Amino acid sequence: MLRLPKQNYHDIERIIEFDFVRATEAAALNSLQWMGRGEKEKADEAACDAIRGMFDLMNICGEVVIGEGIKDNAPGIFKGEHLGTWMPGAPPFHIALDPIDGTTNISKGAPNSIACIAAASPKPGVEVALRDIPSFYMTKLAYGPAVIRSMQKTGIDMVKIESPIEETLITIARALGKRVQDVVVMMLDRPRHDQMVKEIRRVGASLRMIGDGDIAAAIAPGLPDTGIDVYFGIGGSPEAVLAAAAIKCLGGDMQCVMWPRDDKERAQLVADGHEADLGRVYFADDLANGENIIFCATGISESALLDGVKTKGSTAITHSILMRAKSKTVRFITAQHDLQSKTIRLRSDNREHRI
Ligand code: FBP
Repeated sequence: MLRLPKQNYHDIERIIEFDFVRATEAAALNSLQWMGRGEKEKADEAACDAIRGMFDLMNICGEVVIGEGIKDNAPGIFKGEHLGTWMPGAPPFHIALDPIDGTTNISKGAPNSIACIAAASPKPGVEVALRDIPSFYMTKLAYGPAVIRSMQKTGIDMVKIESPIEETLITIARALGKRVQDVVVMMLDRPRHDQMVKEIRRVGASLRMIGDGDIAAAIAPGLPDTGIDVYFGIGGSPEAVLAAAAIKCLGGDMQCVMWPRDDKERAQLVADGHEADLGRVYFADDLANGENIIFCATGISESALLDGVKTKGSTAITHSILMRAKSKTVRFITAQHDLQSKTIRLRSDNREHRI
């Protein structure tokens, strides 16, 4: 009698990971209808509905440990929400997600929006796989494996987020064997970055400023062909953790420090017992810990990381990335969706919908 080998349920991420991509694909496809329509909440709502709908088909006990930053009144998926069927015996997952990073971009029809999810099944010895940072923003510095390898090989001092920008850029240039003026820095275009921008320009590095969406921006230096060498600046803390999960899978690194917006937030962080962590430098491994991390994202509008959704006749083409920390396999998944037959399950009415 033919015996089929048993599924390796000890490595559950390997089995479930493709369903996570289905969820980000569904979010991207379902939010596309709001591209350029000036309705960022509607786009977010559409992405959340599709993600919840896809998770309703997944036999897992998923708990959102990092949801969207409560930045506006966005109809997001927040910390504590349960996703998946929660059938008895289903494997548990901790989930961090951003149904749309770059909602404003979508509302303007601008580039740099992705849907993304990081997840980890709890494992012994890993206390916090995806760390929920209490501050609203963090200062972030992200770089790829080429910088790390070269620094290790040549004995160049490691980059440090506390160092002056000039020093950091010179170190990265040396590590990459580039002139400083050829080092490409990506940064959110925000008034709070004015001084950093002056400094980067004074050193002469090449700056790419983006409107929104710093998850894709922070991951980009981790891949060889994005044209981005380093991501720098102050952005959302949940976004830092999602980026860290991806960067870890790519073998790059990230350094982040909490950046309280004002005295009130600083006082609150101190009152909540976080004083000792205020100056702490969190590396990718501190934000996304353990080997059982998976990360996936689908491009909605084009970014340094992924192409956006494109339609050709009655076909929609999505571009996704899927990776795992354990194997470090990085998959780029281009999917063709036949719009005549493709349906997406939405949580709002528990039914399949044509896009
Ligand atoms: P949303 O899509 O949730 O609006 O976030 C976009 C984003 O640009 C993030 O990528 C970034 O981390 C954060 O907002 C920066 O916050 P702010 O817009 O307040 O500077």
